Amino acid sequence: MADEAEFKNKADFKIREDALVSRRNFIKGVITSGVAVSSASYLFRASTLLSGQQVAAGVGERLITLNVNGQQRRVDVMKQETLASTLRYKLGLTGTKLGCDRAECGSCTVLIDDIPYYACSVLTHTVRGRKVSTIEGLANPDGTLHPVQQGVIDEQGFQCAFCMPGFIMATVGYLKKNPNPTRKELAQGISGNLCRCQDYDKILTALMRGAENVRRSNRG
Ligand code: FES
Ligand code: FES
Repeated sequence: MADEAEFKNKADFKIREDALVSRRNFIKGVITSGVAVSSASYLFRASTLLSGQQVAAGVGERLITLNVNGQQRRVDVMKQETLASTLRYKLGLTGTKLGCDRAECGSCTVLIDDIPYYACSVLTHTVRGRKVSTIEGLANPDGTLHPVQQGVIDEQGFQCAFCMPGFIMATVGYLKKNPNPTRKELAQGISGNLCRCQDYDKILTALMRGAENVRRSNRG
């Protein structure tokens, strides 16, 4: 019995030790890659969290320059890293949300050369030399909101608003090719975006108001 208890204690100790080593590796990776530790709490799915070894192995692998919201940003990027991950955890642009992380919900929508894309499904290194726009870059430098953002304020269009940045970016992108859509056309144009609160009617009203604001302001 005594041997059995001793064996169990040793086994427990080994499990705790392994957990500590792997946690230590993770923190080391986080620090060396410049990712904020607190960023991990934004993740919805554990599967999207990069392990310490993955982060550490990728550091310095590809130092690239991205054009994000009109600024040149130098960043270390792993080959398999998605744009959503880079924006959120390396550039601190957490307005780009991660919902499904597999091209289903649209909450990560950003514009690449003015066309809406799911940032969770675009590899960061493929957007070198292209223009990336996120929700943080929409307002004017003086703080004046983009007309679509103003439409959302005017109509109070969202409930929890987690999906809001994605919807706004999808709308801004869609209006560039169809500035005067019917309600039905806009609904179809942004149908790649989902809302868990299912407040679609109100969202559409807000975004139609945004489209009207864009036409009035002559801003695309
Ligand atoms: S997080 Fe990208 S589509 Fe859902
Ligand atoms: S308003 Fe809550 S997810 Fe859309």
